[in-house]
Amino acid sequence: MEQEQRGKTALVTGASRGIGAATAIALAQSGARRILIHYNSHRSGAEEVAVAVRRAGAEAEIIQADLGNLEGIHGLVDHLRSSRYPIDILVNNAGSLVERARLLEMSEDLYDRVMNLNVKSAWLITQAVIPQMVERGGGFVIFVSSIAARNGGGPGATVYAAAKAAVSSFTKGLAKEFAPRGVRVNAVSPGTVDNYFHQQFSTRQMLDSVVAATPAGRLGTNEEVADTIVFLCSHAARFIYGQTIEINGGMFMI
Ligand SMILES: NC(=O)c1ccc[n+]([C@@H]2O[C@H](COP(=O)([O-])OP(=O)(O)OC[C@H]3O[C@@H](n4cnc5c(N)ncnc54)[C@H](OP(=O)(O)O)[C@@H]3O)[C@@H](O)[C@H]2O)c1
Repeated sequence: MEQEQRGKTALVTGASRGIGAATAIALAQSGARRILIHYNSHRSGAEEVAVAVRRAGAEAEIIQADLGNLEGIHGLVDHLRSSRYPIDILVNNAGSLVERARLLEMSEDLYDRVMNLNVKSAWLITQAVIPQMVERGGGFVIFVSSIAARNGGGPGATVYAAAKAAVSSFTKGLAKEFAPRGVRVNAVSPGTVDNYFHQQFSTRQMLDSVVAATPAGRLGTNEEVADTIVFLCSHAARFIYGQTIEINGGMFMI
């Protein structure tokens, strides 16, 4: 798939680390001309990704926005609407559990932050970007769901799981709405990826129990998810629409 994305502009949200960083670099390596690297707090991570993107031969632009609140979402959306560079590939990757909280511990503010970050921002960013794709005759939107959307999530992750289920539904609905206009919409659904996400939210014991329940016998990597995203944006995936691809070493099969 090398050079397949030649000339394209991609926006990867949450590209300062983890799956998003690996995706930004993989898209640059597959020939994309320009990568917009969105981040929230990890500026140095975004800068390192920009270096790797440029090394792969693409231009890199770094954009900051906190997508957990409406001000940050609208700021990014306004930036995208006024940008000189229309986007061909949108990867709605930014997301987080934010905090583990069970029903009685979940404040309304925390609920809103989880939903803003994982659901509302992805919807509004897609709304800002898709018209440019339609106008230019095609494009790709990839959502990042989660195994939590299928199983309700781990302890204190119920709202996050519901948010990811919304993302999987966006994928189906928008795939139907935009297939006739040349935009292919799909999603990836990672199981447990060995990265900063779980350094923040999971104990070693929790991760060991996931490994024990995984036929492949290990956690996933950022690159394994990134490779699937690049595949979904490729000619090889040209008849795949509205799917949420599970990437979990066989831990959960549908
Ligand atoms: N890791 C897993 O096992 C796993 C499993 C299933 C699904 N996922 C999903 O995969 C996606 C990528 O996560 P990851 O595993 O790569 O985690 P990660 O390494 O923690 O990276 C998360 C990314 O999202 C950004 N982000 C977090 N909070 C944000 C906010 N308030 N506003 C804007 N951006 C924000 C972060 O930006 P900064 O660091 O710059 O703040 C970072 O770039 C997420 O949607 C996550 O829900 C992950």
